[in-house]
Amino acid sequence: MTTAVPSPPADEQELLADALARPWYHTIELRPGVLTTGAVDHRRIAPRLLPADLGGRRCLDVGTFDGFWAFAMEDRGAAHVAAVDLERYDQADWPPRNRPRLLAEGGDGDPGERFRIAARLRGSAVERVLTPIYDLDPDVAGGTYDHAVLSDVLLHVRDPVGALEAIGRVLRPGGRLVVAEEINLRLSLLSPRAPAAHLQTGWTDYGWWQANVAGLREWLHQAGFRVAARTFYVIDAVKAMRQWHVAYEVTPDPTAPQAADRPR
Ligand SMILES: C[S@@+](CC[C@H](N)C(=O)[O-])C[C@H]1O[C@@H](n2cnc3c(N)ncnc32)[C@H](O)[C@@H]1O
Repeated sequence: MTTAVPSPPADEQELLADALARPWYHTIELRPGVLTTGAVDHRRIAPRLLPADLGGRRCLDVGTFDGFWAFAMEDRGAAHVAAVDLERYDQADWPPRNRPRLLAEGGDGDPGERFRIAARLRGSAVERVLTPIYDLDPDVAGGTYDHAVLSDVLLHVRDPVGALEAIGRVLRPGGRLVVAEEINLRLSLLSPRAPAAHLQTGWTDYGWWQANVAGLREWLHQAGFRVAARTFYVIDAVKAMRQWHVAYEVTPDPTAPQAADRPR
């Protein structure tokens, strides 16, 4: 016997049609078997970076954009998921020389437009938290978390260590953070052990630092984390964005200076 799947209400059908007609940043399953056309598709790498079961966990996705990682954690049974993002693009750390042009090009837009569509169509309970990463603390983030994801955000911040320290303030002792970032392949091969980063402000609109593998590790070390695992991958994305990535899974290092001893 087959059970008919009820069709969504008319306004949701309209929303779905509108969603499927748009370009997305993330490939996201809006309804079973119905996918957005995203520039970036994390579905293949997600099982390598996330535990299969997050049941009972409080999870945080920092820099969620269309929401892929937040929804992926919700799908894995998280008790609560918060998705952090900026309220407007122009709150980002744009390189100062690029700011006037980016503003003139409509930089006051809202990074959460597609997230809200996906959340509604998926029937998601993910809570959106609007704040620059540096201001994260338990009051702003609605508590502390067991599991956090920070994926492809550090390249957009002027102060990567400060951004990581802010996540440290909202991670519980023994909590896990996955930091996935594109890496500078040349600097990683030329100096595999020496931390280094390429300053990209001169030739990208929004980019700051592209670290080598050792550089990202050093940022994590300075921010008070200890590495538990490392994964290399090439991101599934449109050609211009198909870069080598490293994902470090880290935990708070109890021997590092604690939040109270770190000036904000
Ligand atoms: C390249 S997207 C990455 C999206 C997603 N995390 C992923 O892995 O595909 C960068 C995201 O970080 C957000 N972002 C950039 N700078 C930020 C900041 N200073 N504080 C909080 N979020 C920021 C952007 O609005 C956007 O949602």
